[in-house]
Amino acid sequence: MSILITGGAGFIGSHTAVEFLNAGYDIVVADNYYNSSPKALDRIKEITGKDFRAYEVDLCDKDALEKVFIENPDIDSAIHFAGLKAVGESVQKPGMYYYNNLVSTLNLVELLAKYDAKRIVFSSSATVYGNPKTVPIREDFPLSTTNPYGETKLMIERILKDVWVSDNDWSVSILRYFNPIGAHKSGLIGENPKGIPNNLLPYVAKVAAGQLPYLSVFGNDYDTKDGTGVRDYIHVVDLAKAHLKALERAEKVTGVEHFNVGTGTGYSVLEIVKAYEKATGLTVNYKIVDRRPGDIATCYADPKKAYEVLGWHAENDIDDMCRDLANWMKKNPNGYEG
Ligand code: UFG
Repeated sequence: MSILITGGAGFIGSHTAVEFLNAGYDIVVADNYYNSSPKALDRIKEITGKDFRAYEVDLCDKDALEKVFIENPDIDSAIHFAGLKAVGESVQKPGMYYYNNLVSTLNLVELLAKYDAKRIVFSSSATVYGNPKTVPIREDFPLSTTNPYGETKLMIERILKDVWVSDNDWSVSILRYFNPIGAHKSGLIGENPKGIPNNLLPYVAKVAAGQLPYLSVFGNDYDTKDGTGVRDYIHVVDLAKAHLKALERAEKVTGVEHFNVGTGTGYSVLEIVKAYEKATGLTVNYKIVDRRPGDIATCYADPKKAYEVLGWHAENDIDDMCRDLANWMKKNPNGYEG
């Protein structure tokens, strides 16, 4: 039996591929390399010493995706990472986000059903909680979104639930990620954003490495410990391991389950700057600027359900995350293209 990993060359997908290979699973990767590099696949093979099939395929092309199923009749589950993920871009290009994220998922679900592989772990996001009234955030909190990217995540959650309602043979595990950062300890795979990063940690790492002049801290007048935004940063390897646990459970039970994947601890932007400086001995220059539109003050998980039901909890702390990110940056200052 093998696991189809869509978006398997991407940041979270590549780390998850490593964990599945190390756990003895066979995997098949499908990726269009729109926001990832095929070089990540060579690195996965280097880390694990294992080989696997990979297809350059856009999931919106149903015929091309079906070829993957035809050539790999042993696929019995999917871990579905593939999708567009930049919040700001989604506001500029909503049609592109709705089309890509929804059509790709609908094609995938149709083919999983057709080839009797009714098991899926889906990459959702804490963005589906909108601006939560209280923290820590539990899975049963009200859902809402503030941008097209988040809306696609929430719509896909609802589509997958309806799919299960129509056919109770499905196992659907929805993982709501908080803020994944860090890199594999080997320094061989990591986050490789195209152009100027949007997210905090890749930006901090580039400032520390002298590739960007300073970090813009988006607001210091929030109602938080130091006025800057607070988030639940989680090591990407811990996040990857949550997929393994989610799939193990989906192999045993049918239904739809939602899990927060976070550490349960919130760090402010300035705490992150300090942690990165401590981990690397480098300086992160920053300037306080206006708030970024759409940002919320505080977001962190109650990860209890994932612990109780999946037996999963985050093992790495913020120092591990910063150290591993810095190691990846040092070894790959220009990402996979270096
Ligand atoms: N920040 C800065 N300067 C930067 C970048 C970020 O001060 O240059 C701040 C933000 O204001 C925020 C924190 O750093 O307080 C984290 O920002 P990120 O952009 O790294 O992450 P977000 O929490 O805004 O968004 C992330 C994912 C989204 C997802 C969301 C869900 O990028 O895909 O979490 O909570 F939708």
